[in-house]
Amino acid sequence: MNLFQRFFIVVTFLVLFTFCWLLLRGDRGRDKELEYQRDSEKFVLLTDEIERLQRLLEYERKKLQAVESRVDEYIKDNRDISQNSKTTNWNEPIGILVFVCNRAEALRQHIQKLLNYRKSAKLFPIYVSQDCDDEAVAEVAKSFGEQITYIKHISGANANIVIPPNHKQYTSYYRISRHYKLGLSHVFDNQKLGSVIITEDDLDIAPDFFDYFSATRWLLDADKSLYCVSGWNDNGKENLTDVTAKTLLYRSDFFSGLGWLMTKALWNELGPQWPTGFWDDWIRDPARRLNRSCIRPEVPRTAMTMFGKSGASKGLFFKHLKQIKLNETPANFSQINLSYLLKNNYDDPFMNLVYGLPKLTLDETILKTLQTTNTGESVRIEYSSMQEYTNAARKLHIMIDTKAGVGRTAYRGIVTCFINGLRIYLAPSNPKEWKGYDVGWQPPAETSEQ
Ligand SMILES: *[C@@H]1O[C@H](CO)[C@@H](O)[C@H](O)[C@H]1NC(C)=O
Ligand SMILES: *[C@@H]1O[C@H](CO)[C@@H](O)[C@H](O)[C@H]1NC(C)=O
Ligand SMILES: *[C@@H]1O[C@H](CO)[C@@H](O)[C@H](O)[C@H]1NC(C)=O
Ligand SMILES: *[C@@H]1O[C@H](CO)[C@@H](O)[C@H](O)[C@H]1NC(C)=O
Repeated sequence: MNLFQRFFIVVTFLVLFTFCWLLLRGDRGRDKELEYQRDSEKFVLLTDEIERLQRLLEYERKKLQAVESRVDEYIKDNRDISQNSKTTNWNEPIGILVFVCNRAEALRQHIQKLLNYRKSAKLFPIYVSQDCDDEAVAEVAKSFGEQITYIKHISGANANIVIPPNHKQYTSYYRISRHYKLGLSHVFDNQKLGSVIITEDDLDIAPDFFDYFSATRWLLDADKSLYCVSGWNDNGKENLTDVTAKTLLYRSDFFSGLGWLMTKALWNELGPQWPTGFWDDWIRDPARRLNRSCIRPEVPRTAMTMFGKSGASKGLFFKHLKQIKLNETPANFSQINLSYLLKNNYDDPFMNLVYGLPKLTLDETILKTLQTTNTGESVRIEYSSMQEYTNAARKLHIMIDTKAGVGRTAYRGIVTCFINGLRIYLAPSNPKEWKGYDVGWQPPAETSEQ
């Protein structure tokens, strides 16, 4: 092979090599381009997929939220139901027994209020019981037609009531006692009602008067250490109560009456021994009370109208009574678990609460009430004698007097009030050694002067 041939072969080879190299390089570029194209297609697909999943997730999240809120509702409903099974409104008739003598206009307004707030005539039949021979009252009662039942008794004046010679000035108390016995006997013995709310024509009532009694009635059957529910709070002045605590209720050893619920069982017990006079002092006597308590509200469900000024015993206290401030907007008791009022649930937490609070002197407390504007603070003042109790009650402007040794609204000797945002408990100094109420306690009867 000559030189030229060799040269030619080398050149050819180089040309081929270069060609191949160029070719290969081009292929690789196309490959990359294809790869790139495939990748971007994949990317678009993946992005689409992500978007799809996100939409799905959003959709599922909404579904989940819907299910969750249904579960919440379900739980809430069931809580209401199980609660209601304990606290539900009483579904048997509760009679309203209105005692009236000679105040026609008072009666008209009282019945009008009852009818305005009553949701069911079947559950709350109204009975107006009159013992005096007052024609105007009879006419008012009859003017309400079938909405009420009017009962007329032989008037106390003509009933040959036996009154001890030294009690002639208390004649009205004997007539009232007789009237109560006749009225209660009518609704329990003749009408066979299982429960009755007792009112008088001079009482004002709150819009949720019926709901309150309807929601608390079961407690009287569930707890034999209770003997009544009262709509009244003896210290129910606006300045002495937490007017926002609409559903707050208490146990009280003080029988306050004035719009109160009793059962047929209590009538069966007390009816046969009913006294000829002073029935309210009699029912408070330890021999009748037997350590039993009543339920009472923080915010009053009954108050006194101006007609109360001329009542038999109330005239004396009217300056106080007229300041009792009714609850204005209805509370929804069906949402509240009232089991806490049963003695077994109530006593320990209540005592622990009161005796776990900071103990202040009366003066420190008074000072605090002048400074307190925020709510939520509670204090305890202790007393160890009637004088201390009376002194504290006077300074706090709560009721001073006692009946059968029980201070108004007291539970286990403890009286509470709420002044300028401060919750105050006036409590016996040594609860473990507290001997119970002393019937000998007779604080000065100066409440009428205030
Ligand atoms: C009680 O409230 C009345 C107004 O309703 C007010 O004039 C009075 O100062 C208050 N008393 C106390 C002790 O807060
Ligand atoms: C009331 O309770 C007190 C103290 O627990 C007891 O000593 C008293 O005998 C009770 N009274 C009645 C009438 O049950
Ligand atoms: C009271 O609460 C119950 C249960 O939550 C409800 O069904 C009812 O409508 C409420 N009543 C009023 C008057 O708000
Ligand atoms: C109601 O309250 C009592 C305690 O006061 C409690 O034992 C009970 O479980 C409560 N019921 C409901 C349904 O919450």
